[in-house]
Amino acid sequence: MKIYFATGNPNKVKEAEIILKDLEGIKIEAINLPYPEIQGTLEEVAEFGIKYLYSKIKKPVFVEDSGFFIEVLKGFPGTYSRYVQETIGNEGILKLMEDFKGEERRAYFKSVVGYCDEDGVKLFKGVVRGWVSQEIRSKGYGFAYDSIFIPEGENRTFAEMTREEKSRISHRKRALEEFKEYLKKKLK
Ligand code: IMP
Repeated sequence: MKIYFATGNPNKVKEAEIILKDLEGIKIEAINLPYPEIQGTLEEVAEFGIKYLYSKIKKPVFVEDSGFFIEVLKGFPGTYSRYVQETIGNEGILKLMEDFKGEERRAYFKSVVGYCDEDGVKLFKGVVRGWVSQEIRSKGYGFAYDSIFIPEGENRTFAEMTREEKSRISHRKRALEEFKEYLKKKLK
């Protein structure tokens, strides 16, 4: 069975491949098909997008929408994560966080996978909690907010961890694992 992953982000494809690689009987193929991203929660964005894509290609397809949420900033940048990363970037975020210390620097990544086939739409969610670092720290791994996010149980930022290490605990991993369990049951 072939399942399409609609994304233009090669980082996401690599992470998804690592997580879904042992799924027997299923072949994942990336397609770069744009879909309208409405304003709303991640769940609403994923559901609208996946319905749109399925109506176009009529084949099993999934999308993954994610965001970075800083608790003391009431969830900012959240669903605006891409725009904020492209505008003020990590320097801007660290400036906004200047006065906050310790637990006030709590943040999380959330991922929602939206899947659609002839049985309809399913959503799967994953969260990884941690903190905003004091400074940008990277060993060249990762992208976007990875260099300012330290996951719980770690001293390193996501951008100081290898792709495999990040893929073991990431929000995307958690949402894709749920998706994988669903697919396994479906194949039985
Ligand atoms: P998207 O709409 O799911 O592509 O994600 C929105 C934005 O969230 C991305 O453009 C990134 O700025 C940010 N983001 C999502 N996942 C990650 C991640 O794993 N690391 C760093 N930034 C991320």
